This record gives sequence, structure tokens and C-alpha cells, in this order.
Amino acid sequence: MSIQTTLNKTRTADYDRTNDLKAFDERKTGVKGLIDEGSKNIPNIFVRPLEDRSKDLGTCPKNLSVPIIDLAHVHNHTNEATTTEVAKSIVSASGKWGFFQVVNHGISVELLERMIEGGRSFHEQDDVNKKLFYSRDKSKIVTFNSNYDFYKSNAANWRDSLSVNTVFTGEVYPHELPPVCKDVIVEYIDHVIKLGDLILMLLSIGLGLKPDYLKQMESTKAWNFVCHYYPMCPEPELTLGTSKHADASFITILLQDQIGGLQVLHENQWVNVEPVKGALIVNIGDALQIVSNDKLKSVYHRVIAKSIGPRISIAFFLKGLFSSPKLYGPIKELLSKENPALYREFTLEEFLTHFITRPLDQPGIDHFKL
Ligand code: OGA
Ligand code: NI
Repeated sequence: MSIQTTLNKTRTADYDRTNDLKAFDERKTGVKGLIDEGSKNIPNIFVRPLEDRSKDLGTCPKNLSVPIIDLAHVHNHTNEATTTEVAKSIVSASGKWGFFQVVNHGISVELLERMIEGGRSFHEQDDVNKKLFYSRDKSKIVTFNSNYDFYKSNAANWRDSLSVNTVFTGEVYPHELPPVCKDVIVEYIDHVIKLGDLILMLLSIGLGLKPDYLKQMESTKAWNFVCHYYPMCPEPELTLGTSKHADASFITILLQDQIGGLQVLHENQWVNVEPVKGALIVNIGDALQIVSNDKLKSVYHRVIAKSIGPRISIAFFLKGLFSSPKLYGPIKELLSKENPALYREFTLEEFLTHFITRPLDQPGIDHFKL
């Protein structure tokens, strides 16, 4: 098939989407299961409608990239001037890009590599063991599935995910985790939570708030940890690894392997977030855009599908506790006559329910605008 015919390929007319989705789900082996069987074409359920593909924005041809922030000198908070400077650069990156990469963040490259291998070992273990976790029950703490919005989106993404979600319970016990990667998940989460605290402290300082302000908002009380697995894709131009979306979190800390594919929307074009060995990617989620009254930006991003793979990424979303009675809205200290509140107040229950019930690629933040 020529490139042009491939690009113009559309879903066959007689296809029963609901039926095909159910059949895929019943196999419980995810996208990887299709590749294991040697599929040379992607099933209709993954093919993006032609009108969506034709409206795609271009990828940035320039050598533009998200800022890289060095955290080497801020761990002990000993030199106030340095801390303030780094805090300012983080707030600036978060306002302009909504994304930055951190280096010298205190988590060893060795642990990062073990975490990626841990994610791989979950997805590449025997189907029998993996299937035990297959579920779409959002109230469960540990689930494995393909696309959390599978029955709502108009095209499925070429991706499988293992998710550990403490948003409803506030905790997870190690024995609930998949045995094959339990130890490394516990170790990694312990470190990534500390890094989350440090970044929230720097963001607070950079916003001119008390250092513990954002943490005091109970933004770190609960989290969702996701190991994504993006198998090689035989027809990458027809689908996506992850559709364009913004995260519902306060912040997200992302670990990616060296394959690449993550793109952020910057000045109306897609910019690749190039893998940097040992770095972690941080992005601002919708909750933090709202409480900062748009000073920090939650930016659209996506993952393209690739003919090479698998690609592994590990996302850690700081979200807060679903059942918290607290009301969230723009931080009063950041408001003034010239800078009035842009959003109304809400509970995390309302906020997170709104995000869970809509397809990944539908904007969520507008719902809370005044
Ligand atoms: C996400 C996400 C990017 C990636 O899980 O929200 O944007 O590289 N992941 O997997
Ligand atoms: Ni995301």
C-alpha cells in the first residue's frame, strides 16, 4: 500500500464499534496481545477518523525544547538566593510551557532504570498473571487495561496501562501490587513523592506564597501511578499512543524511556519532549492551573504511535483525596482587583468525577470557569 493510500485509509463501513470494543476487552491481553499475534494492520477501533487526522497540527521543525531545570542546589534549601532563583525559573517554565524537565532531582538513574524495567516486566509477563488485574472498575486500586476511556473515545489509543490509584482510599498496601514489580514500585513511589514535595515547595516560593502552601492544600494526599506500555505500531500514522489531553492532577511527574513520542502543544505546534537520560518530566495539571488562577498552565500533550517499540513511560499524578471536604479554587493571596478569580470553587469529588466521566481528549477545565 502506498503511503497516500495508508494515510487516507478509513474505517470500513460495516464495522460494529461496540461489538469490536467488547471483543477486544474480553481477550484481556491489551494492545500487546495484538502484536504478539503478529497483526500487520491495526483494528478499526484504533483508527482515528480521517477528519481528525487531517486537522492535525504540524510538529515543530525548529530546535525548540521544554526548559531543563537543574535541582542540584536546592535539595537542602540552604542557599535561599539559589532556591528563589530556581523557583522563579520553574514558575516561568510552568507559565510559558506548562512543562519542564528536571535533572539532579535526587532519584538515581539506577532506580529510574529499574522502574522502567519493572513496568516492562509487568506488561511482558505471562498473560495468565496479567489478566488477573484486567478491569475497568475505577474504584479499584490496582488495574490493568487498555485506555481508561475506551468506550467513550472515538478512537482507541495504541497503549496498555497498569494503574495504582489511591485517590479513593488514600493508601495502597504492597501486597495489593503486582508481585512482578511490587518492590520497585514501592521504592520509586517513596522517592517520587519526596520530589513532588520539593517541586510544590519551589512552585509555592516562585508564586510568592509560603514554601509549604501548595502542600498544605492537601494536593499530595493521594495519587495515581500509571505504567504505560506503547507496543510498536504497524500503522502509526493512523492512530495515537495517547490522544491530546491535559492532566487533571496538581502536578504530574513523568519518567520516559529513550524511545520518544511525547509531544507538548506550544504556540500552536507540537514540540517533541526529547528523552534526556536521568531526567524526569514535570507538568502542571488542571487543578494547579485553577488554584494559581492561570499563572501556571496545564498544557495539552499527546504521545504519537511509532513503528518502533515498545515504549515505556511511568506517570505519577498528584491529585489529592476524592473524599476531601475542602473547597478548591483560585488562591486568595494571588488575587487582586486587576487579577480577579477566573474559576469557581469545587470539591475534589466534583473535579475528579468530571474528569473520569469524559473522554480523555475533551477539555475539562472550562467546566470550572466563572
Ligand atoms: C499521561 C501522559 C505521557 C507519556 O499519562 O497523562 O501524558 O509519555 N503520558 O506516556
Ligand atoms: Ni498526560
